[in-house]
Amino acid sequence: MIRICFVCLGNICRSPMAEFIFKNLIEQEGLENKIFIESKGTSDEEFGNPIHHGTIKELKKHHIPYQNRTAKYLKKEDYHKFDYFIGMDSFNCQSMKQLFSDDPELKIFRLLDFSPLKKDIADPWYTNNFSLTYEEIEIGCKYLLEYLIKKENF
Ligand code: 4NP
Repeated sequence: MIRICFVCLGNICRSPMAEFIFKNLIEQEGLENKIFIESKGTSDEEFGNPIHHGTIKELKKHHIPYQNRTAKYLKKEDYHKFDYFIGMDSFNCQSMKQLFSDDPELKIFRLLDFSPLKKDIADPWYTNNFSLTYEEIEIGCKYLLEYLIKKENF
């Protein structure tokens, strides 16, 4: 079982969107018993808060199943609980490196680095452009799945 944690700042906008888009993709591929997926934030500021309505609206628009959930945040002891930490932007990756003592097992990646886009996923908390966020996360998730299928020999 490969364990993946999608990570953003607050865990209410981008990383829950990535969690549910990726869960839907792996269910379509019949890989749900091989990949465990979660999402968390690097900050505890939104801890306990529900998914942002902008994210829910996009998930509904694209018929992506989701469960109501509340925001969680990363702790140092999470490092050993996952094989991949997929940050939405460079700042998320920097914060994780600080928390996880420079990532000795090289588990930290930025989502769009798996794609030709190789850039940050803009934070819709500030841009309010949830549909652009959806498009970019969808691209990143497709390339991530392709990478995992090759790397992990599913
Ligand atoms: P997220 O967006 O990291 O994609 O969940 C944010 C949510 C909340 C805040 C910042 C970004 N905030 O400053 O409270």
